Amino acid sequence: MKSDDKLLIRALKGKTNPVPPVWLMRQAGRYLDEYRAVRETAGGFLNLCYNPDFAVEVTLQPIRRFGFDASILFSDILVVPHALGMNVWFAQGEGPRLDPLPIGSAPPVFDPESFDSHLAPVYETVSRLREELPKETALIGFAGAPWTLATYMAAGRGKDEQAQARKWMFSSPDTFAALIDSLAESVGHYLVKQIDAGAEAVQIFDSWASALAPNAFDRYCVQPTKRIVEIVRAAHPDTPIIGFPRGVGSLYADFVKATGVNGVSLDQGVSPEWAAEHVQPLGTVQGNLEPMHMITGGDAMMRDIDRIINALGQGPFVFNLGHGITPEADINNVHALLKKIRG
Ligand code: CP3
Repeated sequence: MKSDDKLLIRALKGKTNPVPPVWLMRQAGRYLDEYRAVRETAGGFLNLCYNPDFAVEVTLQPIRRFGFDASILFSDILVVPHALGMNVWFAQGEGPRLDPLPIGSAPPVFDPESFDSHLAPVYETVSRLREELPKETALIGFAGAPWTLATYMAAGRGKDEQAQARKWMFSSPDTFAALIDSLAESVGHYLVKQIDAGAEAVQIFDSWASALAPNAFDRYCVQPTKRIVEIVRAAHPDTPIIGFPRGVGSLYADFVKATGVNGVSLDQGVSPEWAAEHVQPLGTVQGNLEPMHMITGGDAMMRDIDRIINALGQGPFVFNLGHGITPEADINNVHALLKKIRG
C-alpha cells in the first residue's frame, strides 16, 4: 500500500477518516510479557535499541497483538546524546543516566559521519521494519526535541532535570542557545536519515516543554522545532511531522502555527472541545486519552473515549493517549479501547 493511502498518513495530510487511526505512545514496553522476555534476553535497554533483531521484534510485538494503525520505531530519545559522544546508560528500575554537561560547556561536536555510524543499527531497524510491517501499517520515526534532550544532558538524569537546564539558560544564555541550536541540527539530520531509511512520518517529543516560561518556550521549543521542520522538509517535503510540546495548554495552538508541523500530539490536560476549536483548524490533532485509563478501564474510559471522538472525529484526527502507556497497563483495556473506536 502507498504511504499516502495509510490511515495515519491520510490523517496527517489533513483528511478525515470515518474511523480514526489509532496508535499508543510507548506501545512497545513493559506492560507486554513478550517485551519483558526480549528485554531479559537483550540484557540491557541500550542493547535493545542498538540490536536490529531485538529492536525490530519489540517494535512488531504490539502490532501483532493489537493491530495498531501505526508502528513507532523502538529506540529512545537518548541515543542522540549518546551518538554525540556523551556517556549514557540505563540504571535498572531507575531510568536513564548520563554524565552531565556542566553549565556553560560548549555543545558536543556534531560530526555527521561518526553520528551516523553510531546510529547505523537504528537506520537498519527502520528499513527492516518497512519490509516486515503489515502493508497497511504506517511506520513512525522519532527523536527528542532539543529542549527535552538538553534537560537530560544538563542534569544527567530524569529527576530535577528541568531545573538544571533552566539554571543554565539564565546563567549562561549564549552557551545554552548554542547547545539548543546545535541539537536542532543533529536532530534534523537524524530524522532525515530515518526517513531515508523508510520512516513515513516523524514525531518530535518535547516531553518537558511545560517547564518553559513563555519567552523561553518560543526560543527553546518553537524556534528549534521550526528549524528541524525546515531541515526535514528540505530533504523530504512530503513526509508529515508531528510535534509534541507536552503540557503547554493554550500554547499548543501557537506552536502549530509557528512551527508549521502537520500534526500535534496533545496531552490529557487539554479539553478535546477546546482543541477542536483552536488547534484542529491549524493542523491534525493527535490524542489525548488519560493514560491512567489503560490501568483502570471501565465506563470512565469509555466515556472519555466517546468525548474525544465526538469532539475531534469530524476533522483530521489520530487517536492516541496523552502520554505513554505505563508498565501497569492492562492489555484487556487496550483491546477494549480498540473495539470501542473501531466497532
Ligand atoms: O513504543 C514506543 O513508543 C517507542 C519507544 C520509545 C521509548 N522511549 C522506549 C523506552 C520512545 C518513543 C521513547 C521516548 C522517550 N524516552 C521520551 C519521550 C517520550 C516521553 O515518554 O515523554 C523520553 C523522555 C525518554 C527518556 C526515557 N527512556 C525515560 C525517562 C525512561 C525511563 C522511564 C521508563 O519508562 O522506564 C526511558 C526508558 C524507556 N524508553 C523504556 C522504553 C520501553 C523502558 C526501559 C525498560 O525496558 O526498562
